[in-house]
Amino acid sequence: PGDCSFTRQQEPLGLGHAIWCARHIVGDEPFAVLLPDMLMRGERKGCLAQLMDVYSETGGNVIAVEECDPSQTGSYGIVGKGEAIGDAFRITTMVEKPAPKDAPSNLFISGRYIFQPELFDHIARFESGAGGEIQVTDAMRRLSAEQPFFGHRFRGRSYDCGMKPGFLAANIALALENPEMAAAVRAELKALMAPA
Ligand code: G1P
Repeated sequence: PGDCSFTRQQEPLGLGHAIWCARHIVGDEPFAVLLPDMLMRGERKGCLAQLMDVYSETGGNVIAVEECDPSQTGSYGIVGKGEAIGDAFRITTMVEKPAPKDAPSNLFISGRYIFQPELFDHIARFESGAGGEIQVTDAMRRLSAEQPFFGHRFRGRSYDCGMKPGFLAANIALALENPEMAAAVRAELKALMAPA
Protein backbone atom coordinates (compact mmCIF):
# COMPACT_ATOMS: atom_id res chain seq x y z
CA PRO A 1 0.00 0.00 0.00
CA GLY A 2 0.97 3.62 -0.39
CA ASP A 3 0.40 6.45 -2.79
CA CYS A 4 1.70 6.38 -6.33
CA SER A 5 2.29 9.55 -8.29
CA PHE A 6 3.56 9.69 -11.83
CA THR A 7 5.34 12.21 -13.95
CA ARG A 8 6.49 11.97 -17.55
CA GLN A 9 9.66 13.19 -19.12
CA GLN A 10 8.38 14.71 -22.34
CA GLU A 11 11.75 14.70 -24.08
CA PRO A 12 14.74 12.33 -23.60
CA LEU A 13 17.14 15.02 -22.33
CA GLY A 14 19.06 12.77 -19.91
CA LEU A 15 18.77 11.00 -16.57
CA GLY A 16 19.32 14.21 -14.58
CA HIS A 17 16.42 15.83 -16.39
CA ALA A 18 14.22 12.76 -15.83
CA ILE A 19 14.83 13.03 -12.07
CA TRP A 20 14.20 16.79 -12.21
CA CYS A 21 10.73 16.07 -13.67
CA ALA A 22 9.81 14.56 -10.25
CA ARG A 23 10.95 17.58 -8.19
CA HIS A 24 7.42 18.70 -7.27
CA ILE A 25 6.48 15.20 -6.13
CA VAL A 26 9.62 14.84 -4.01
CA GLY A 27 9.52 18.29 -2.44
CA ASP A 28 12.03 19.17 0.27
CA GLU A 29 12.89 15.68 1.55
CA PRO A 30 15.60 13.05 1.05
CA PHE A 31 14.57 10.61 -1.68
CA ALA A 32 15.67 7.43 -3.44
CA VAL A 33 16.22 6.85 -7.15
CA LEU A 34 16.03 3.31 -8.58
CA LEU A 35 16.95 2.72 -12.21
CA PRO A 36 14.77 -0.22 -13.19
CA ASP A 37 16.98 -1.40 -16.05
CA MET A 38 19.49 -2.49 -13.41
CA LEU A 39 18.01 -5.59 -11.83
CA MET A 40 19.57 -6.12 -8.40
CA ARG A 41 19.31 -9.37 -6.44
CA GLY A 42 20.63 -8.57 -2.95
CA GLU A 43 22.24 -11.06 -0.60
CA ARG A 44 19.98 -11.28 2.48
CA LYS A 45 18.52 -7.82 1.84
CA GLY A 46 17.75 -5.70 -1.17
CA CYS A 47 20.09 -3.04 -2.49
CA LEU A 48 18.04 -0.08 -1.25
CA ALA A 49 17.77 -1.67 2.23
CA GLN A 50 21.58 -1.99 2.21
CA LEU A 51 21.85 1.71 1.33
CA MET A 52 19.38 2.62 4.08
CA ASP A 53 21.60 0.83 6.63
CA VAL A 54 24.53 3.01 5.55
CA TYR A 55 22.37 6.15 5.43
CA SER A 56 21.17 5.66 8.99
CA GLU A 57 24.86 5.77 10.07
CA THR A 58 26.16 8.49 7.76
CA GLY A 59 23.29 10.66 6.51
CA GLY A 60 24.22 12.69 3.43
CA ASN A 61 23.95 11.06 0.01
CA VAL A 62 24.55 7.33 -0.47
CA ILE A 63 24.96 5.40 -3.69
CA ALA A 64 25.46 1.75 -4.60
CA VAL A 65 28.59 0.84 -6.53
CA GLU A 66 30.07 -2.32 -8.01
CA GLU A 67 33.31 -3.25 -9.72
CA CYS A 68 33.39 -3.41 -13.49
CA ASP A 69 36.06 -4.61 -15.86
CA PRO A 70 38.37 -1.57 -16.31
CA SER A 71 37.64 -1.63 -20.06
CA GLN A 72 33.92 -0.99 -19.36
CA THR A 73 34.16 2.39 -17.58
CA GLY A 74 32.78 4.18 -20.65
CA SER A 75 29.37 2.55 -20.06
CA TYR A 76 28.79 3.87 -16.53
CA GLY A 77 29.21 6.62 -13.96
CA ILE A 78 32.50 5.94 -12.13
CA VAL A 79 33.41 7.07 -8.60
CA GLY A 80 36.71 7.85 -6.89
CA LYS A 81 37.21 6.00 -3.61
CA GLY A 82 38.26 7.82 -0.43
CA GLU A 83 38.40 6.99 3.27
CA ALA A 84 36.49 3.93 4.55
CA ILE A 85 33.57 4.74 6.88
CA GLY A 86 32.17 1.56 8.46
CA ASP A 87 30.54 -0.45 5.70
CA ALA A 88 30.95 2.36 3.17
CA PHE A 89 33.53 4.83 1.86
CA ARG A 90 33.71 8.50 1.11
CA ILE A 91 33.39 9.33 -2.57
CA THR A 92 36.02 11.75 -3.84
CA THR A 93 34.72 12.33 -7.36
CA MET A 94 32.20 11.07 -9.89
CA VAL A 95 32.61 11.03 -13.65
CA GLU A 96 30.01 9.98 -16.20
CA LYS A 97 31.19 7.45 -18.80
CA PRO A 98 34.94 8.17 -18.70
CA ALA A 99 37.37 6.44 -21.06
CA PRO A 100 39.41 3.87 -19.10
CA LYS A 101 42.44 6.19 -19.04
CA ASP A 102 40.39 8.99 -17.39
CA ALA A 103 38.47 6.79 -14.92
CA PRO A 104 39.17 7.42 -11.22
CA SER A 105 38.63 3.69 -10.43
CA ASN A 106 36.66 0.71 -11.76
CA LEU A 107 33.78 1.25 -9.29
CA PHE A 108 30.62 2.01 -11.23
CA ILE A 109 27.39 3.58 -10.03
CA SER A 110 24.91 0.75 -10.22
CA GLY A 111 21.56 2.51 -10.30
CA ARG A 112 20.38 2.88 -6.68
CA TYR A 113 20.78 6.24 -4.95
CA ILE A 114 19.69 8.10 -1.80
CA PHE A 115 19.84 11.86 -2.35
CA GLN A 116 19.26 15.04 -0.42
CA PRO A 117 16.78 17.41 -2.10
CA GLU A 118 19.51 20.02 -2.80
CA LEU A 119 20.44 17.79 -5.76
CA PHE A 120 17.64 19.51 -7.68
CA ASP A 121 19.39 22.91 -7.34
CA HIS A 122 22.34 21.48 -9.23
CA ILE A 123 20.32 19.65 -11.87
CA ALA A 124 18.47 22.92 -12.50
CA ARG A 125 21.59 24.34 -14.16
CA PHE A 126 20.77 22.05 -17.07
CA GLU A 127 24.39 21.70 -18.10
CA SER A 128 24.84 19.21 -20.85
CA GLY A 129 27.37 16.48 -20.09
CA ALA A 130 28.43 13.11 -21.54
CA GLY A 131 26.53 12.30 -24.73
CA GLY A 132 25.04 15.83 -24.77
CA GLU A 133 22.62 14.81 -21.99
CA ILE A 134 21.75 16.44 -18.65
CA GLN A 135 23.55 13.93 -16.43
CA VAL A 136 22.66 13.32 -12.79
CA THR A 137 26.31 12.35 -12.19
CA ASP A 138 27.42 15.92 -12.99
CA ALA A 139 24.84 17.36 -10.55
CA MET A 140 26.04 14.83 -7.93
CA ARG A 141 29.66 15.91 -8.37
CA ARG A 142 28.65 19.57 -7.87
CA LEU A 143 26.53 18.72 -4.82
CA SER A 144 29.49 16.79 -3.38
CA ALA A 145 31.32 20.12 -2.96
CA GLU A 146 28.63 21.02 -0.38
CA GLN A 147 27.50 17.71 1.10
CA PRO A 148 29.10 14.31 1.78
CA PHE A 149 28.64 11.42 -0.65
CA PHE A 150 29.17 7.82 0.41
CA GLY A 151 29.54 4.70 -1.71
CA HIS A 152 28.42 1.24 -0.64
CA ARG A 153 29.57 -1.87 -2.48
CA PHE A 154 26.38 -3.69 -3.28
CA ARG A 155 26.30 -7.24 -1.86
CA GLY A 156 24.49 -9.39 -4.36
CA ARG A 157 24.25 -9.89 -8.08
CA SER A 158 23.14 -7.27 -10.59
CA TYR A 159 22.02 -7.60 -14.19
CA ASP A 160 22.41 -4.64 -16.51
CA CYS A 161 19.27 -5.01 -18.60
CA GLY A 162 20.29 -1.94 -20.61
CA MET A 163 22.71 -4.32 -22.39
CA LYS A 164 21.33 -7.28 -24.33
CA PRO A 165 23.49 -9.97 -22.65
CA GLY A 166 22.49 -8.64 -19.21
CA PHE A 167 18.82 -8.68 -20.15
CA LEU A 168 19.08 -12.28 -21.36
CA ALA A 169 21.06 -13.37 -18.28
CA ALA A 170 18.43 -11.79 -15.98
CA ASN A 171 15.64 -13.69 -17.71
CA ILE A 172 17.51 -16.99 -17.50
CA ALA A 173 18.57 -16.48 -13.87
CA LEU A 174 15.03 -15.70 -12.75
CA ALA A 175 13.56 -18.54 -14.80
CA LEU A 176 15.98 -20.97 -13.12
CA GLU A 177 14.73 -19.77 -9.72
CA ASN A 178 11.10 -20.28 -10.68
CA PRO A 179 9.87 -23.80 -9.76
CA GLU A 180 7.25 -23.71 -12.52
CA MET A 181 9.79 -23.41 -15.31
CA ALA A 182 13.24 -24.21 -13.92
CA ALA A 183 13.38 -27.81 -15.18
CA ALA A 184 12.17 -26.94 -18.69
CA VAL A 185 14.54 -23.99 -19.03
CA ARG A 186 17.46 -26.07 -17.74
CA ALA A 187 16.68 -28.73 -20.36
CA GLU A 188 16.52 -26.11 -23.14
CA LEU A 189 19.85 -24.64 -22.07
CA LYS A 190 21.46 -28.06 -21.92
CA ALA A 191 20.29 -28.81 -25.45
CA LEU A 192 21.54 -25.46 -26.72
CA MET A 193 24.94 -25.88 -25.09
CA ALA A 194 25.45 -29.49 -26.24
CA PRO A 195 28.20 -29.90 -28.81
CA ALA A 196 26.72 -30.30 -32.30
C1 G1P B 1 22.96 5.65 -15.99
C2 G1P B 1 23.82 6.61 -15.16
C3 G1P B 1 25.19 5.97 -14.87
C4 G1P B 1 25.00 4.63 -14.19
C5 G1P B 1 24.08 3.73 -15.05
C6 G1P B 1 23.74 2.43 -14.33
O1 G1P B 1 23.55 5.51 -17.27
O2 G1P B 1 23.97 7.83 -15.87
O3 G1P B 1 25.94 6.83 -14.05
O4 G1P B 1 26.24 4.00 -13.97
O5 G1P B 1 22.84 4.38 -15.36
O6 G1P B 1 23.03 1.58 -15.19
P1 G1P B 1 22.69 4.91 -18.52
O7 G1P B 1 22.57 3.44 -18.27
O8 G1P B 1 21.37 5.59 -18.50
O9 G1P B 1 23.50 5.23 -19.74
